[in-house]
Amino acid sequence: MKAAIEDRFFEQYLEYFKLAEDRRRWNLWKDIPWESVNPDTDDLVADVVEAFSAVEMFLPDYTAKILQMIRKSRGRAWFQANWGYEESKHSLTLAEWLVVSGKRTESGMRAYENSLLDNAEWELPFDHPRQMMIYTMIQELATWLNYWNLKAYIESDERGGDPALSRALHLISADEKTHYNFFRKGVKVFMEYEPEETLKDLRFVFEQFSMPAQTLIPGWDEKAEKIRKAGIYGPRQYLTKVYLPILKDLNLTRKELETAGASEVVEIAHDEKDQPISNGRKIFIPSSAKSYNKP
Ligand SMILES: [Fe+2]
Ligand SMILES: [Fe+2]
Repeated sequence: MKAAIEDRFFEQYLEYFKLAEDRRRWNLWKDIPWESVNPDTDDLVADVVEAFSAVEMFLPDYTAKILQMIRKSRGRAWFQANWGYEESKHSLTLAEWLVVSGKRTESGMRAYENSLLDNAEWELPFDHPRQMMIYTMIQELATWLNYWNLKAYIESDERGGDPALSRALHLISADEKTHYNFFRKGVKVFMEYEPEETLKDLRFVFEQFSMPAQTLIPGWDEKAEKIRKAGIYGPRQYLTKVYLPILKDLNLTRKELETAGASEVVEIAHDEKDQPISNGRKIFIPSSAKSYNKP
């Protein structure tokens, strides 16, 4: 059974890697029109970009700790190595935009980046590889959504947008969506071979899920509030664009997850910038949706 699962992971990795090599590689210096950076872009955008880049800075922890956990799974380990390369471009690109746009100085950025790793270290939120596969599936889709909505926010700005940042966010989002796809397919393999254990883990991880920003990044609550107010990411977006689409894609109903013990009744706050989901009626969302989830 285990060998069959590992064979599938390796097949999926080869498929992922081939597509990445054929169609998705991009060059930080050549593929982003840096000459079209708009220095008048909203300062809020710079704050959000800095916040996202800060979370991407913990790459050494993410890569090292996950790789160590799944080192005997060739499909997942080789994927993780490739994932690390792709993720490494994200923080570099975001930092580059902050400096080229004049929103931050180069020395200021370097000092900030170094201080992050001095102050905190990311730890694995789950100690079982199947649970980590589920966790990373959720996290990558949430990450994609953060970048995608930031791109939409910039493009709707009356100040004329920022073609360089839009392009950068487009490329980064494509990477994040593809990461999500890899993990989602992996979770489906687990569902096929180990259905009961996987359902139990899905319930558990959704209940516990929170992304590391809150503990890793100083002053995160304030940053999260800005992100939520701008309509980029908050409980509403998590529910409608992450949680429910994942359940649908896995062919699971909320009832099935709830029967396994998941979810609790919470109310979406009325002060959300977006319309409340159900005019104040109570709806089921997992407790994880109540806290901000990082890119
Ligand atoms: Fe990323
Ligand atoms: Fe990613």
